[in-house]
Amino acid sequence: MQGIGRPIVVLDFGAQYSKLIARRVRDANVYSLIVPFNISYDDLKALDPAGIIFSGGPASVHLDDAPKPDLQVFDLGVPILGICYGVQLLADMLGGTVEASDDREYGVAHLEHYDGTGFLDQVEEHTQVWMSHGDRITVLPDGFESIGRTENSPYAAIANAARHFYGVQFHPEVVHTPEGKRILANFVHNICGCMNSWTMGNYVDLAVKEIREQVGDKQVLCGLSGGVDSSVAAVLIHKAIGDQLTCMFVNNGLLRKGEDVMVQEVFRDNFHIKLNYIDAEDRFIDALAGVSEPEAKRKIIGNLFVVVFEEEATRLGHMDFLAQGTLYPDVIESVSATGGPSVTIKSHHNVGGLPEKMNMKLLEPLRELFKDEVRDLGRELGLPEEVVGRHPFPGPGLGVRCIGEITRERLATLQDADEIFIEEIVSAGLYNDIWQALVCLLPVRSVGVQGDGRTYEEVCSLRAVTSEDAMTADWFRFPPEVLQRVSNRICNEVQHINRVLYDVTSKPPGTIEWE
Ligand code: XMP
Repeated sequence: MQGIGRPIVVLDFGAQYSKLIARRVRDANVYSLIVPFNISYDDLKALDPAGIIFSGGPASVHLDDAPKPDLQVFDLGVPILGICYGVQLLADMLGGTVEASDDREYGVAHLEHYDGTGFLDQVEEHTQVWMSHGDRITVLPDGFESIGRTENSPYAAIANAARHFYGVQFHPEVVHTPEGKRILANFVHNICGCMNSWTMGNYVDLAVKEIREQVGDKQVLCGLSGGVDSSVAAVLIHKAIGDQLTCMFVNNGLLRKGEDVMVQEVFRDNFHIKLNYIDAEDRFIDALAGVSEPEAKRKIIGNLFVVVFEEEATRLGHMDFLAQGTLYPDVIESVSATGGPSVTIKSHHNVGGLPEKMNMKLLEPLRELFKDEVRDLGRELGLPEEVVGRHPFPGPGLGVRCIGEITRERLATLQDADEIFIEEIVSAGLYNDIWQALVCLLPVRSVGVQGDGRTYEEVCSLRAVTSEDAMTADWFRFPPEVLQRVSNRICNEVQHINRVLYDVTSKPPGTIEWE
């Protein structure tokens, strides 16, 4: 993409932290891309990088099949930064010596530096860094000097300032290297000469131009879920092509309370987007009658969604494009530990193969962006915080939180309890500290006493977790008074609940949802 500056290209050698490196570069307002290490020289050159970063990786340069880049990369004439395995590659490929070592240096170390090249500008002379390596450099290649050392690594930071090649044995991208952000920013600004051109304001202008070029005078259909990705995609596309965009929102009756109204207000009333609101509540709830088994529920909800979406899309006449909120992490070609690049594609985004069936092309205007950037883009486009900052919500919605049988009455009870829980989290100022908060209505009843009478009513369980990516999660430590208020309010205000539990299960062994 031009206009947002030449990219910093991260060559991925299978590091778990490659995405983090790219994120940190973007945090420094510089566009960055991740590509597999074995990208051809011509393809790499075509990207016109302002600089290249070799990521870390699990391999050793001594292995026969060690992942290595095309040797010509060193002749591109652009700055290179090697991180961990990446610096060992630099040393090895340019004539230095890397020795295998049985003792791994792992954890916090203290870097002392004496750099005069600008690479470690404004970094404290003594600073904490995070190490995680086995092999180590013992002889530097010609032209390189040590610019920083730790107790165990005399070559913790190295430079060949004449060729603009740099390397660090530690990981500047992780939080345990507190000045790591500064180091990466120094590399991209001071060494590569990048400007602060990766901003969401610049991105909007470019994305709008690209969408216009791609779509021309054709028609675009976008399925809105109320979630962050589809909302931001819709508003961005609307900015580009106005009424050539039609959005569709299917109310499956399994939404949070007031969600249907909110979506219509935001998109139709505020943004004046053509919005097809489909009230399919009865169809979904009738189809779910008598079904308790979680996977059966998911199947019914998923299949019916595709049927409804297709029916309604057909009614709209021919649509040329289907817009999807695919994000950059979904399209990065990931490098497995064995060195083979593979592509990951989020299949559930593909509304059940609809684009092929209905002969629609895909429009994916967020495929360059990480999740946090999508939120920033949403803010830039004027979407309210209640949309851009919201917690993830599963496709099957309250269907998998209404444990056991789903009835209209139980759903209404669950919606009321859920609304109170979220309201209290927001008013305690905790919403942004929590990855996801939810209420489950359990398939048991309990005896209680309210007023002068005995009750025999429903039980709900509150769940709030912290997480980075939903793969693992921990339960959120609420101040007890918040839980107390939620419990009081639910028992007093929600007609059919007389008992409230708090779920203290991490993931694993639990999952975030109950079903
Ligand atoms: P679990 O329960 O597996 O959830 O720990 C991890 C994340 O995925 C969400 N989730 C779903 N999202 N369709 C979705 O679109 C689903 O069927 C589904 N099941 C779980 C869940 O809310 C959490 O963010």
